Amino acid sequence: MAEIILGVGSSHGPLLNLPPEEWEVRANFDRAQTELAYRDGTYTFQELSDLRKSDYFIEQMELDVKRERHAKCQKQLDDLGEQLRAAEPDVVLVVGDDQREWFFEDSQPAFAVYCGSEVHNKTWTDAERIERINSGRGGDLYSYRPKEDQVYPVETELAELIVGAAMDAEIDVAASMMQPKDPDGKLRNIGHAYGFIYRRLLLDKAIPIVPILQNTFYPPNQPKPKRCFELGRAIGRAIRDWKSDKRVAVVASGGISHFVVDEEWDAKMLNALQEWDLDCLLSEPNIMFRSGSSETKNWITAAGILSEPRRKMELHGYVPCYRSEAGTGSGMAFATWR
Ligand SMILES: [Fe+2]
Repeated sequence: MAEIILGVGSSHGPLLNLPPEEWEVRANFDRAQTELAYRDGTYTFQELSDLRKSDYFIEQMELDVKRERHAKCQKQLDDLGEQLRAAEPDVVLVVGDDQREWFFEDSQPAFAVYCGSEVHNKTWTDAERIERINSGRGGDLYSYRPKEDQVYPVETELAELIVGAAMDAEIDVAASMMQPKDPDGKLRNIGHAYGFIYRRLLLDKAIPIVPILQNTFYPPNQPKPKRCFELGRAIGRAIRDWKSDKRVAVVASGGISHFVVDEEWDAKMLNALQEWDLDCLLSEPNIMFRSGSSETKNWITAAGILSEPRRKMELHGYVPCYRSEAGTGSGMAFATWR
């Protein structure tokens, strides 16, 4: 029988990929935003800044503080990567979100399991670079895409078992059989949630992957936390029932709160994950999971996978990384389940 050897949770936000000297670039991007999600409200940057007015955020914008936070995160990522690589998994199952990278308005599955035989992860093209730079997001490129084009084999047998197990649990997942292409025939790249894990934690090692794609971001069909957890349980069953001696690592990619940092909410979610407080975790209203904070659902699905038997989540680090006077940035978390 296959075995889950390790669970990993890792934030993947852009500040991890930008030197602290350049965080201001992203702060300027935030300052132009008119729909920032914070708790159950939506604000312009100025409104949010007025609402959260505090000396704390001003202190957090000091370059020394940013440097200290960035260094802490890099150490966490180095350690997590080392642990994941040392575990020598045969398969890496990544629970991520699709942020209009693979699926678009024409079809937006709440959950999709990729069952094609391989996944291409391509490095940035010049046109993509220029687009990112012009939109003010150019500096954060290097940890989402590989140094050179990569092809990862997909563990299709497991992916298909997962689809079956989800359907048995009456969770109707989409099965994606082919890496989508743009209308011009160009392959759409695998999303940042997956690229980050392969680039930053696995150092471009092409270990067979099973990508689980959740629509955490886009209305109207974001799955609720309880549904994510149930999907996770079905995935866990599929792995346990898989007649194979392969060793599977489970990775939750993304979260916790961003792009408005909410330390209180992060503590609530991370504590619920550590303590297996499912009442708290699964009853959290969907409105709290908006924008980047929605990626916290990737952790909830991973917890579902790791729930039978319950593994202990160890939080190795939580690092709030702020970049503006409105408290925008990312609440970064790094954890393992064993
Ligand atoms: Fe993300």
